[in-house]
Amino acid sequence: MIIAIDGPAAAGKGTLARRLAEAYGFALLDTGLLYRAVGMKVVAADGDLDDEEGAARAARALRPDELSNPALRSDAAAQAASKVAAIAPVRAALLDFQRTFAHQPPSPAKGAILDGRDIATTVCPDAEIKLFVTASAEIRAKRRYKELLDRGLSAIYARVLEDLEERDARDKARAVSPLVAAPDALVIDTSAMDADRVFATAVDFIKSRNVGERP
Ligand code: CDP
Ligand code: CDP
Repeated sequence: MIIAIDGPAAAGKGTLARRLAEAYGFALLDTGLLYRAVGMKVVAADGDLDDEEGAARAARALRPDELSNPALRSDAAAQAASKVAAIAPVRAALLDFQRTFAHQPPSPAKGAILDGRDIATTVCPDAEIKLFVTASAEIRAKRRYKELLDRGLSAIYARVLEDLEERDARDKARAVSPLVAAPDALVIDTSAMDADRVFATAVDFIKSRNVGERP
């Protein structure tokens, strides 16, 4: 069984994905890390994020052990990710890895959860469960801002909001696999919901779809 979770930045995708993975015993892939790792590789090499061939080479050479680098959580990595994510050969190079993870998750997991922007539309259109997690830009920016302060980093709210809106716009406007809810996805607006309520909403949906999974 595959659970696809998509949505804009800081909507609560990862939080929901982690809770569902734990409840159902599924393997979890945060696909944003793939794009962040490619972006950072390009920055470390020559820094030209518009060089399509260089970015595609970096994507083809990506190894799973490169996904645990703590620097991938930085805003610089997020911005670099959203630039290389618009390059078609980069997306194509990352498809196989994501699909293999989804269909043959590492044992002993009985299923896979992938979160990103195009899981339900492109990577796994066959996913049994599709969730589109969203929230207003202001709420998402407040959450990301708080997260940065909690990590002991300095941040300016207006800059965080600007960064999220810039990435959302790029993710929605790109020609390949733009950010959009699949027609058969459950849209969860988390603006006024805490993580417990989002989780309960998702579990109810999974039960209602009768795909045989119980947390
Ligand atoms: O994965 P994504 O970027 O969509 O978001 P996240 O990392 O799951 O959540 C971003 C921040 O919002 C985290 O600090 C979460 O704790 C917080 N959050 C929240 O306040 N309320 C929710 N319903 C979900 C997440
Ligand atoms: O945590 P947050 O939602 O802020 O970002 P992320 O999920 O780590 O994604 C970083 C960037 O990677 C996004 O802004 C997208 O441009 C890109 N991405 C994508 O294009 N497709 C995916 N499946 C996942 C991420």
